[in-house]
Amino acid sequence: MARVVGSDLIEEARQRGRIVFELLPGDIVTDVARETAARIGIRLVEGPLEKPAPVRSDGATALRRGLHRRSPKWVAPSRAAPTRVRRFSKIAFVGAGGVGGNVAHLVASADMADELALIDIAPGLAAATALDLNHASGITGTRARCTGGEDLALVAGADVVVVTAGRARGPGMTRADLIGVNARVIHQAAEAIRSAAPRAIVIVVTNPLDEMTVEMLRASGLPRAQVLGMAGTLDSSRFRHALARAAAVAPADVQAITLGSHGDEMAPIPSLARIRGRALDRFLSDDQIAACVQDAVTGGGQVVALKKSGSATIAPAHATMELLDHMRGARTGPVPVSVMLDGEYGISGVVLGVPAHLGATGLIGVEELRLTPAERAALQAAAEAIRTRLGL
Ligand code: 2OP
Repeated sequence: MARVVGSDLIEEARQRGRIVFELLPGDIVTDVARETAARIGIRLVEGPLEKPAPVRSDGATALRRGLHRRSPKWVAPSRAAPTRVRRFSKIAFVGAGGVGGNVAHLVASADMADELALIDIAPGLAAATALDLNHASGITGTRARCTGGEDLALVAGADVVVVTAGRARGPGMTRADLIGVNARVIHQAAEAIRSAAPRAIVIVVTNPLDEMTVEMLRASGLPRAQVLGMAGTLDSSRFRHALARAAAVAPADVQAITLGSHGDEMAPIPSLARIRGRALDRFLSDDQIAACVQDAVTGGGQVVALKKSGSATIAPAHATMELLDHMRGARTGPVPVSVMLDGEYGISGVVLGVPAHLGATGLIGVEELRLTPAERAALQAAAEAIRTRLGL
């Protein structure tokens, strides 16, 4: 019977220390498995391979091993290409509230930057959080020096600026209700970035995410590669959580992404989602899958409804870290991120969540996945809705 090679087999191989995965004739390899292999540095090779001879010390065996290695079928167990993980020199945070403060905490703990600058209009908040983070360094050992204040000029020289400032929605509000008030905040941040940190990669987190990312692009004049919106990593995590709960498996057994807008036109992509490397319908009914999609779309609103004031902070912070990890080379492969589209997926001139490759210079390229017609239509609908809301 044909073997289905899913990402679970690839992950297992990695855990066993393998850097090469042997594909046998007839194997069916899922797209997610191929992505996972590329991401974690496993080479897929067509087998059957000759097995390396056991290590022995006598001369005859050594000679046989030498000859064996010359066989064209033998694959040298070369090390996985070392991915150079970059250290940022300065990350600035415009907004040091729930999300900004949590991202700064994760960044400091990961010791991935020399300097963190926190900025918030609430008097004392950014300075207090910076001091608090510095106080933890005696335990965490992080080398990151944190400073904080109210002045946007603190973004100066940053190589990344994480923008979380702005009003959060309250119960009953949609993210789109925040356009007017938060666009002003984004414009101020964009001014400061343009004059003091024009080479920075900007990660916009402020809602409504797609619209505010457009505003950041417009007001800063930065090229599209430098302006990213964080939403897809958050929505994808929520989608994976919902699928894992419904299928009673661990979240790590689930691969799934969510594209489109960070709002009602969010587009979770069930056709490419996998549980233990297999299609969703092997584990879940259509109704269950639809409920998981709905859970991802309403996830942020569920937190707002419970909190009464303010929105989610922890999952958004981890989702922002995921983008930073891609930029510094700690993770590889495509990641869902909101970027200005330029013909990809047949869409131009609007910011939308799509899978993309990121690096130290921001957006490297958008990956065009094979989507179902319904999923493509959902992306088009999201683009139209954002255009309408922005009057484009
Ligand atoms: C969320 O979905 C804050 O928009 C963010 O939780």
